[in-house]
Amino acid sequence: MEAKQLKNIVAQLAYPNGEQGAEIATKMNDTNAFITARTLEALAPNEGEFIIEIGPGNGALSSGLVKKIGFKGRYLGIEISNDMAQVAEKALRCASSARIDVHSGNCYDARVEDESIDGLIAVNVLYFIDDLNALLTHIRPWFKPKSRCVFGIRPVRTLESLRFHELGHQIRSPEEIEDAMRTQGFGEILITHYDEGEGKLGDISFPNGSIIIKAVPCA
Ligand SMILES: C[S@@+](CC[C@H](N)C(=O)[O-])C[C@H]1O[C@@H](n2cnc3c(N)ncnc32)[C@H](O)[C@@H]1O
Repeated sequence: MEAKQLKNIVAQLAYPNGEQGAEIATKMNDTNAFITARTLEALAPNEGEFIIEIGPGNGALSSGLVKKIGFKGRYLGIEISNDMAQVAEKALRCASSARIDVHSGNCYDARVEDESIDGLIAVNVLYFIDDLNALLTHIRPWFKPKSRCVFGIRPVRTLESLRFHELGHQIRSPEEIEDAMRTQGFGEILITHYDEGEGKLGDISFPNGSIIIKAVPCA
């Protein structure tokens, strides 16, 4: 694959938009089904909970989550791509009678009431967050006591193969994320690694895997 083509695909992963963004989002529903399922297992949502998702893409992978929280539950997606936010909100409202909103905007700017949420997930999003400490400082007050924060990320070797660094994105090890989370008031951090064998993007082959980082807010 030419460097320009890879750059274009990675830019769409960071901010899916237009026709190509819609296509890439549909492909992500396949490639990211496993990592999202493991993230949701770690979150273990319950009926009636208020869950936030940062970067849901087109929302297809979150339909199980919104069904699980049921009609008394609340789901708030925060999605920087307006195209994705609109599609996700429509799809998820069809999937469940929970209270569902997907706001179009940057997660750094989202306003959420303190101690209001039962859980937060972000799958394949942290690479596009330049200042992780700033994000964690921003979201930490939202968590109720005993709530859960779960991030799904790809291993360093996967992101290096896709040249995320060269393309201006962040490659962080799970330990680096764990340290930042501890500093910003999260604890009981559990990191689980899954090997997904060989991944393919066009003619690029890479070692693929999922890493799930689960934490709770410290009292
Ligand atoms: C690689 S996609 C992952 C989509 C989905 N979670 C999945 O795993 O298939 C990253 C998503 O995060 C969104 N995103 C990136 N930066 C963001 C930010 N600062 N605030 C909110 N959403 C963001 C992108 O628009 C995109 O939809």
